[in-house]
Amino acid sequence: VILSPQHPLSAGLTSDSRLVRAYRGERSDTTPVWFMRQAGRSLPEYRDLRVGTRMLDACLDPEMASEITLQPVRRHKVDAGIFFSDIVVPLKLVGVDVEIQPGRGPVFGRGYADAAGVAELTKVDPARLDEASGPISEAVGRVIAELATTVPGGVVSTGSTTGGAGSTTGTATPLIGFAGAPFTLAAYLAEGGPSKDHLAARTLMHADAGAWGALMDWTAELSGRFLRAQVLAGASAAQLFDSWAGALSLEDYERHVAPASAKALSFVHDLEYAATDAAGTAVTRHVPVVHFGVGTGELLGAMEGVGVDTVGVDYRVPLDVAARRVGAGVPLQGNLDPALLAAPWPVLEGAVREVLRRGQVAPAHIFNLGHGVPPETDPAVLTRVVELVHEAGA
Ligand code: CP3
Repeated sequence: VILSPQHPLSAGLTSDSRLVRAYRGERSDTTPVWFMRQAGRSLPEYRDLRVGTRMLDACLDPEMASEITLQPVRRHKVDAGIFFSDIVVPLKLVGVDVEIQPGRGPVFGRGYADAAGVAELTKVDPARLDEASGPISEAVGRVIAELATTVPGGVVSTGSTTGGAGSTTGTATPLIGFAGAPFTLAAYLAEGGPSKDHLAARTLMHADAGAWGALMDWTAELSGRFLRAQVLAGASAAQLFDSWAGALSLEDYERHVAPASAKALSFVHDLEYAATDAAGTAVTRHVPVVHFGVGTGELLGAMEGVGVDTVGVDYRVPLDVAARRVGAGVPLQGNLDPALLAAPWPVLEGAVREVLRRGQVAPAHIFNLGHGVPPETDPAVLTRVVELVHEAGA
C-alpha cells in the first residue's frame, strides 16, 4: 500500500530528516534526539493544560492531544514528536472498561486472566478500531500540519534535502506513532491493572495455550490497527513499546510473544512511499519501525528478529554491547539512564558524551533515554541535553 502523496514521507518533508535517515541506517550532520515521555508532566505547559481533564479524555480530544504532542517539540527542538496518547487508548476506543489512574497507570474494570475472561474480551472485533479511531487520525493530522509549517528543528544541513515528488518544500520534524506490544498490553489486561512481575499474564501463557494465543492474537491486531491509523494519518515512523517484555525468559519470549509482536507490525510493514536516493535513483521505501522494551538485555537479538529497522535499548546495556547482540548493521536508539537527568551538569554531560561515544559502533544512533522522562525532571535540563547532542556532531 502506497501512502498518499500528501503524507510527510511521500511529500519529501520527513523522508530525509535526521530521524528517518537514522532509522534507515544513515548518519546526518548530527545525531537525532528525542525522549520517551517528552510530552507530559515534566512540562509546566502540559500540567496547565491537563487541569480538570482525565488522561484518556485528553488523549481522545484531538485539539488537546495535538497541542500536548507539539509542546516538547517547540520547547526542546527535539528531532521528532511522539504522539501523545497511551498504549490503552485502542482498548478504550473499542469499548474496554479502562481508566488511567494518576501515579498508578492503566486500571481495568476486571482482570482477564483465564479462558472465560479472554473469551469475553475477544468478543469485540478489533476491526472496530478502524471506525473508532477518528480522534486519533484527527489529532495526528493537526500535529503534522503544524510540524510541516511552523516548527523548526530536525533539519538536515548536509547533502540533498529532499526526496519525493519534486514539489518538495524542505524538511519538517517527523512525528512518531506508537503502540503497546501484545505482551505489555496482556500484562495489564490479565492482572486488571499494573503489577510488578506480571504474574497473571505469565501464568496464563503456560497454563492455557489456547487462551493465551487468543489474547495475543487479539491484542496484536488491535495494536497493529492503532499503529496503522497513526501512520496513515501522517506519522513518519512507528515504535512498538514492549515495556514489560523484560519479565520473560528468552525462550518464552520467542515462543509465546514474538510471533504476536510480528503480527502487530505486519499492519505497518506494507506501508510504502516513493523517494529518491542519494544517487538520484527512484526507490520505494517502507515506514521505519522501532522496537523498545525495558530490561530486555537478554532479548535484544530476538526483538530485532521480529522484523524492525531500529532497536531501542534501555539503560542497563551499553550501546556497544547491545550492538553485538542485535548484530552489525542495526541502528540503535537510546539509552541515557533517566536518573542522570537529576545529576549535576558535569556528571550528566559526561554521561551523554559516553552514550554518544558508544553509539558510534552502530551504523546510526538516535539519542534517547533508557526509559521515559521522570515527571520531576527540570525541562531546562532536557533542552540542554538536546543542544549538547546536536553540538557534539555525528
Ligand atoms: O511523550 C510520550 O512519550 C508520548 C506519550 C506516551 C504516554 N504513554 C503518555 C502518558 C507514551 C508513548 C505512553 C506509552 C505507555 N503507557 C507505555 C509504554 C512506554 C513506557 O513508559 O514503558 C506504558 C507502559 C503505558 C501505561 C501507562 N500509562 C503508565 C505506566 C502510566 C503512568 C502512570 C503515572 O501516573 O505514573 C500511564 C499514564 C501516562 N501515559 C501519562 C502520560 C503522559 C501520565 C498521565 C498524567 O500526566 O497524569
